[in-house]
Amino acid sequence: MDKKWKTSLAGIIDGEGHMHGYKTTDLIDKVNFTDAIWLELKGELPTEKERAMLDSILISTIDNGMGPPSVTNARNSASAGNPMQAAVAAGVLGVGESHGGAIEECARLLQLGLSADKLVEKVISSGDRIPGFGHKVYKDEDPRATQIFNKAKELGFYGEACELARAVETKLEELKGKRIVINVDGAIAAVISDMGFDYRLGKGFFLIGRIVGLVAHVFEEYVREKPFRRIADEEIEYDGPSPRKLPS
Ligand SMILES: CC(C)(COP(=O)(O)OP(=O)(O)OC[C@H]1O[C@@H](n2cnc3c(N)ncnc32)[C@H](O)[C@@H]1OP(=O)(O)O)[C@@H](O)C(=O)NCCC(=O)NCCS
Repeated sequence: MDKKWKTSLAGIIDGEGHMHGYKTTDLIDKVNFTDAIWLELKGELPTEKERAMLDSILISTIDNGMGPPSVTNARNSASAGNPMQAAVAAGVLGVGESHGGAIEECARLLQLGLSADKLVEKVISSGDRIPGFGHKVYKDEDPRATQIFNKAKELGFYGEACELARAVETKLEELKGKRIVINVDGAIAAVISDMGFDYRLGKGFFLIGRIVGLVAHVFEEYVREKPFRRIADEEIEYDGPSPRKLPS
């Protein structure tokens, strides 16, 4: 009978769990975590080079300090007394178009087949920022992006999308008269495009890696800090109406 819920990812076959046709017990025995992630996303096991590239991408997303919204969200939620799953979920909700989430839209743009000039013009003329470019801290170079590109060159994944991303960076600098670096999201977007991933998986790469960091930050918050952290009063300025009486 034609069933309503279908998946080609995994299932129980003859009483045993299988992922993409491979017995889960064989995978546990024989492959590493990155192999299994690639298998789940792509349906086949990776080559050595594919595994190495995916490893680098995932490592680059794990943690870049306490500052970004994903981490502050997670730690604030933990500080308020929430359990691990809730605090990590709060951290995941801290990922958005300006933080971590730019991979998807950047990869979509890089996969449109436009020239660098056309791509920049299309985004800037609509008043938007080009996803995957610019950074709060890194102004000359995002070292994580550079390292990802170096790794892509070494492993043979520096293709058209990577070239296009670098050309967009040059074009953007010409247009804005200042350097707006390609950031880690942009580099990941370019490399996953050259590796043949659908852009709609873009955010997924960031989430898979960042959850490792979020779990660690939440745990650290539990064991190292007192509950209920709040922004210090000296850092808060109230600039609303002066105290006044309710109308009678
Ligand atoms: C990350 C980001 C929020 C940093 O913003 P920021 O600190 O305000 O950036 P800066 O102060 O260095 O630069 C601001 C100027 O550069 C421009 N700029 C910055 N990033 C830009 C981008 N991606 N595309 C076009 N212009 C950009 C701004 O429009 C602004 O120009 P103006 O001075 O003419 O108004 C911003 O670059 C951005 O939105 N990038 C796109 C999203 C993204 O890739 N996020 C992932 C970050 S790892």
